[in-house]
Amino acid sequence: MCGIVGYIGKKNVKDVLLTGLKALEYRGYDSAGIALRNDDEIQIIKNTGRIKKLEQKINQTKLIKATSGIAHTRWATHGEANITNAHPHQVGKITLVHNGIIENMEELKTKLLNKGYEFKTETDTEVVAALIDSYLDNDIIDALYKAVDDIVGSYALGIISEDDKEHLYALRKDSPLLLGIGQEENFFASDLTALTDYTNKFIFLEEGEIAKLSQNKIELIGANHTQIAPEIKEINIEESEKGKQGYEHFMLKEIMEEPVVLEKTIKPYLNNLDLLPDLSTYKQIHIVACGSAMYAGLIGKYLIEKYAGIPCTAEVASEYRYKNNIYDRKTLVILVSQSGETADTIAAMREAKKQGITTMAIVNVKTSTIAREVDIPLFIEAGPEIAVATTKAYLLQVALFSLIAFKLAKNNLENPDKILKDFEKIPRIVKEILDKRENYKEIANQIYQNENAFFIGRQMDFAICEEGSLKLKEVSYIHCEAKEAGELKHGTISLINKGMPVFGIITDENLRDKTLANIKEVESRGAKTFIITTDKLKTSDKDITVPNTSAFTVVLEIVPILQLIAYETAKLRGCDIDKPKNLAKSVTVE
Ligand code: AGP
Repeated sequence: MCGIVGYIGKKNVKDVLLTGLKALEYRGYDSAGIALRNDDEIQIIKNTGRIKKLEQKINQTKLIKATSGIAHTRWATHGEANITNAHPHQVGKITLVHNGIIENMEELKTKLLNKGYEFKTETDTEVVAALIDSYLDNDIIDALYKAVDDIVGSYALGIISEDDKEHLYALRKDSPLLLGIGQEENFFASDLTALTDYTNKFIFLEEGEIAKLSQNKIELIGANHTQIAPEIKEINIEESEKGKQGYEHFMLKEIMEEPVVLEKTIKPYLNNLDLLPDLSTYKQIHIVACGSAMYAGLIGKYLIEKYAGIPCTAEVASEYRYKNNIYDRKTLVILVSQSGETADTIAAMREAKKQGITTMAIVNVKTSTIAREVDIPLFIEAGPEIAVATTKAYLLQVALFSLIAFKLAKNNLENPDKILKDFEKIPRIVKEILDKRENYKEIANQIYQNENAFFIGRQMDFAICEEGSLKLKEVSYIHCEAKEAGELKHGTISLINKGMPVFGIITDENLRDKTLANIKEVESRGAKTFIITTDKLKTSDKDITVPNTSAFTVVLEIVPILQLIAYETAKLRGCDIDKPKNLAKSVTVE
């Protein structure tokens, strides 16, 4: 997803902007650019590809002595990934960078063309610059409010106005933007990782506020020029949490962190389940998220329905937000999101809140939009997750759902104390599983030259397959499909070819033989099968097994194996593991 950085101060503006963009690289992008300004001019330099290519171009350019600047990494939405469409964009007296999607850009563009504006790019961003410029008379604040009143869509904007040499401007709707406070310098950025080298004091810009930044001051201005008192948050990210710490990729580092962050996340609740929200009064639960977060929710659905008997759905946010959802007063909507900035998940949350429905969120980034707007925030303690493919955050989302289901079901369980002990053992068991990384390299060796793979299972095992399939496909580009094991023979089995990898997940004693039969079906058609199960349900010495623990915890043992298989396979295929093509870490646009 696009990244935005802005700086005004005495440091080398180019260096601050590039440092910020490099910290945002993990968000995914296909072009980048900066705009430098001083009293006399505005200089724009852009390039396609990685930031180091932009940096080379900048270093070959005679730069102005800048006093402020804005910068951007673009993840193409309107218009292809080329230099023309890269940000910043300049129209008239306005130069800006933008994250988001302007849904009514064509309508606005027509109006501006009729006013005599000309456009050089295919982007919605250039239309925004022209729109602001068209309203600019002697007060940029009025011009900004008039412009955003015309806009339908999402935006985070960082703006230079030619007439105002002392300030940068920033404003947002749906897309995140925050301000950084320095000593005789100030900043803005899409997320705080871009600024932690320079400050630990932040202001999270709210919708409807315009930030006016000078070297010595940040003003927040509301509609009709009201001054808004900023709420300053001090946030420190450990240096250690930001780098790869010697691992080759962030994805591997984050998988290897799982025992520690599991312990950190679940321990407080194991000591006191009352710290978890009591969901027993709800009559139905809608779990709503995107991607892996939705698959974590799918596991939550199976566990809550099976062990707590509360009707539960797990739905994709981009569908949920537009469908006619059946609520009653006793409905709970649970959002799941690592970043807390996924546009569709935010929209689903806001839709539920508009209907007066209680919302809860399992979220990692404590300062995110979802964390700040939801009724009941529940935090995982994953720390910053940089790799685009989520691993530790997904595992912790599942862990919280397991604990929620366990709390709901506890009084009806035969052996709650044993299950509690299983939870206590999990971080150590996961560590032991991760230590067997060589086993998973061996599996990767057997599949990395395939172009297709299947993951099959029943009930919660199918939900695990969904994430195993997504993980492998998004980092290795092998086309993977998760399928309900019993459903294969209704069409999909026609795709099974000789040597095609099929992973079978078996954790439920009552479903073991059924899934095993399905695995035999594909084996008889030439598939190369890999069974991942528990030592108690083992079907042969070939199986990959994990210690047999309760249904609430065994999923936490299987997932790291699938994550490492995906990682090792992608490595053998020479993929860009931390920044897979076309993907973004946080999809802040629809
Ligand atoms: C997972 O590996 C993907 N990066 C993606 O599916 C992600 O889970 C999804 O975009 C949701 O992101 P969120 O958790 O930040 O809302």
